[in-house]
Amino acid sequence: MSKVFITCALPYANGPCHLGHLRSTYIPADIYARYNRMNDVDVLFVCATDEHGTPIAVRAEQIGKSPKEIADKFHKMIKHDLDSCNISFDYFSRTTDDLHYEIAQNFFLKLYEKGYIYEKVIQQPYCDECKRFLPDRYVEGICPHCKGEGARGDHCETCGRHLDPIQLEEPTCLICSSTPEIKESKQYFFKLSHFESALKDWINGNEELPPNVKNYALQWLKEGLKDWILTRDMEWGIPVPLEDAEGKIIYVWGEAFLGYISSAAQWSMKENKPWKDYWNDKTIHFIGKDIIYHHSIFWPALLTGYGCKLPTNIVAGEYLSLEGRKMSTSKNWVIWASEFLEKFESDILRYYLVINAPLNRDTDFSWDDFQRRVNDELADVLGNFLHRTFTFTNRFFDGKIPEPKEMDEYDEEFKERILNIPNVVYEKIEKFKFREGLIEIIRLAKFGNKYFNDKEPWKAVKENPKEAANCLYLCNQLAKTLAVILTPYIPVKAPQIMEIMNLDDFETSKWENASEFIPAGHKIGEPIPLFSKIDDSVIEKEKEVLYENLKEEVTMKDIISIDDFAKIDLRIGKVIGAERVEGSENLLKLMVDVSEKKLQIVAGLAKKYSPEEIKDKKVVVLANLKPAKLFGIKSEGMILATSDNLSVLSAEDAVVGEKIK
Ligand code: 2FM
Ligand code: ZN
Repeated sequence: MSKVFITCALPYANGPCHLGHLRSTYIPADIYARYNRMNDVDVLFVCATDEHGTPIAVRAEQIGKSPKEIADKFHKMIKHDLDSCNISFDYFSRTTDDLHYEIAQNFFLKLYEKGYIYEKVIQQPYCDECKRFLPDRYVEGICPHCKGEGARGDHCETCGRHLDPIQLEEPTCLICSSTPEIKESKQYFFKLSHFESALKDWINGNEELPPNVKNYALQWLKEGLKDWILTRDMEWGIPVPLEDAEGKIIYVWGEAFLGYISSAAQWSMKENKPWKDYWNDKTIHFIGKDIIYHHSIFWPALLTGYGCKLPTNIVAGEYLSLEGRKMSTSKNWVIWASEFLEKFESDILRYYLVINAPLNRDTDFSWDDFQRRVNDELADVLGNFLHRTFTFTNRFFDGKIPEPKEMDEYDEEFKERILNIPNVVYEKIEKFKFREGLIEIIRLAKFGNKYFNDKEPWKAVKENPKEAANCLYLCNQLAKTLAVILTPYIPVKAPQIMEIMNLDDFETSKWENASEFIPAGHKIGEPIPLFSKIDDSVIEKEKEVLYENLKEEVTMKDIISIDDFAKIDLRIGKVIGAERVEGSENLLKLMVDVSEKKLQIVAGLAKKYSPEEIKDKKVVVLANLKPAKLFGIKSEGMILATSDNLSVLSAEDAVVGEKIK
């Protein structure tokens, strides 16, 4: 029995799943896993949550939680989202599991011992306030390439370039807003450049890689590969397993891939079967297009260095937009899986996201189009065909599949198409053309409806009973065939069709059974409605709720989140020194004690307060303002006062240094 190891990109445990994730990665992978199981392939289908990295660590610091608490919460939510969509993983693990740490550290060590990881002292931003280096997202600034604001240490959202944190212009520490200095730090690098020609050979020699993956990979290879920095100075992550590497962790992209292995290894322990047999037979990675680089370049290089077989294929789903606009979680222009699946059945979502466009093309989710496809295709074509077949069989043949006699040419053509469809769909799914497979299925269901109409069994049953019998005989066969080959696509509804037909699980579980005809005389049950239409009012309501978010976006510009507020360090400070700024009518130079430190603040209060009046006052201070120079004098904070009257906010009975929350 052949084996296949199927993986889905590990979702970061810092947010729930939305429809884009389901469309690009999880639904296609699940169709492929279910289809293989039905074809007697021994499948190992794994995933895990990706729980390290700076986005989780920064978020945790900003909201005063531990990264693990955040990861726990989202692991649970993501697992629930994927379960609700019937993604049939054999194992769903976490990158914070002990076994993952062990596997990732051993992997790192082996590459180090083989000389593919080397040490190098480099310059890194360091925050003297926070007393630490600022990796990746801990530092923000202006992109040196496109001048976009809010660029992160590792990446600029505006131009999409990968960045080195010390390249950032006007950098600030994301936690305390101060300006980092540049310090030297020893890091570990992976010799990616060494693998350039091996990767070229692998990519060029791999006939199966889909064009989108191949083209991107070749383009990057043409640009030349640079070595990758594989470690970070931070706490949250997997410690570098070397003696003189204290305080350093493995970069999240240097260990997340091992989640595929560690999840499989957990499964192996549970099932007592070796995961390696699956890996060595055939391995398919399902990913979103944003991480093609990582999977086509970085991961194969790591595997080659380690001495491990490379994946057989990488299937990359492209982006899903929403109502014609780019999805954005921060702007709430998104449909969360859990919210959607509370209202609509998972099978209709799976159907829509697959039929909508080929996987290797960007596409759009629109509520109107969703309704149209569900109503016109699932309800009117598929649902209608099944319903009339079962109803007529019950009404005119006592629920028994009639005996066929002397089929005419039309019957024979229909029969041929039924016998052939499993092979047609098989070939499409083998090539990861999930949409094309589904289109063939719907096309045949449409043909089934036409055949039914043309044969008019409601008339024929009286005038030409043989013709009616042939018609219902064949329509029942198609119903069964459809149920089998629809199973990977709609795993809830397909078995319901079998149930109505009184066929057991075994029949649906094997692809080869799809074209085996049910014997005449078999009794089927009463139909139940399988696919109902979605009412206009339901769609209107969904659109209303979604478009509200756009309106909110306009006003949201003025609204800050609790996370934003948490960034503001407001404290009680005591003015311990005050003098006028020479040459300015407005400015006072103050020294303010906020207990932990003393801040020099230049404040525009001279028109309201003399130095003597303000001295010894307990005032409210913004203590983590980015330092700036006013009148050539350094100012390290702000004293809160009203804008017109310049009345300073004070709190005389508060304690110096006390935080305001
Ligand atoms: O881009 C992402 O969402 C990553 N969390 C994917 C990791 S996939 C692999 F490395 F495991
Ligand atoms: Zn800082």
